[in-house]
Amino acid sequence: MPSLDGLQRSARWGVVLAGALAWTTPAAWAQQAFQGAARVNASIKAPERAAQCVACHGPAGVSQIPSIPSLAAQPKTFIENQLVLIREGLRDVPAMKGSLDGVPDAELVALAAYFSAQPAPPAAKGRVNKASLERGRELAKSALCGTCHLPQYQGRDQVPRLASQQEQFLLDVMKEYRDKPGPGRDTVMAAALYGINDAQLKDLAHFFAHSR
Ligand code: HEC
Ligand code: HEC
Repeated sequence: MPSLDGLQRSARWGVVLAGALAWTTPAAWAQQAFQGAARVNASIKAPERAAQCVACHGPAGVSQIPSIPSLAAQPKTFIENQLVLIREGLRDVPAMKGSLDGVPDAELVALAAYFSAQPAPPAAKGRVNKASLERGRELAKSALCGTCHLPQYQGRDQVPRLASQQEQFLLDVMKEYRDKPGPGRDTVMAAALYGINDAQLKDLAHFFAHSR
């Protein structure tokens, strides 16, 4: 991750970020698989501002609300990038609108370090639809989602963890990438989901939510 300092207020951040992602080919990601997986470090203390976040994202970043993503064990770089995009209004998160105004990069980095070091959420506990879960597993495999998200879907660097994420959130965010990706969203995801129908998105979300 390059220093965020010079980019702090840059409206061109999205362009910079997209450029950085475009360079990193799936092959390069796959080659470095497993090297960047988030490491649990429960000794990292929660920054003061984290108290605001856990009201929605759950204790230690493990969400208890279906439409709100867990942050625990997300790669640090992914969280940093999203926080900058949200603060700059390039990723539209109505629930967080304005809440990061003027928050310095150093604080965003500390929040990312804290949440990324928390233990991954447990796999979803709700009823498992075995047929749907298996369809999701097969589709994720044939669509090569693991090339970037890693074979266990734990994510790395700028690529998010999908395993044990909230099912409803996964479904919502995949529909958004496929149907109306905003300006700050990475075009590789719209491409990855092109032609995948709603029923298949449900299978994928069901599979990831029940993986760990
Ligand atoms: C009022 C509720 C609320 C609060 C408070 C809140 N968030 Fe969020 N946050 C959300 C919702 C809802 C989303 C998902 C939006 C979407 O994509 O539809 C989100 C998305 C995110 C994402 C992107 C995660 C992903 O997997 O795509 C990050 C990172 C994040 N929030 C970090 C934080 C941090 C750090 C704080 C505290 C400074 C915080 N949020 C405070 C509701 C909240
Ligand atoms: C070429 C690499 C690549 C491939 C292949 C890929 N993804 Fe992604 N995915 C990403 C990146 C990078 C992001 C973060 C994008 C951003 O910042 O907007 C992402 C984001 C996501 C998210 C949002 C998670 C969150 O917490 O916000 C979901 C869900 C997702 N991908 C599912 C999939 C599925 C399902 C597949 C296979 C059909 C797939 N991805 C294939 C790179 C990839």
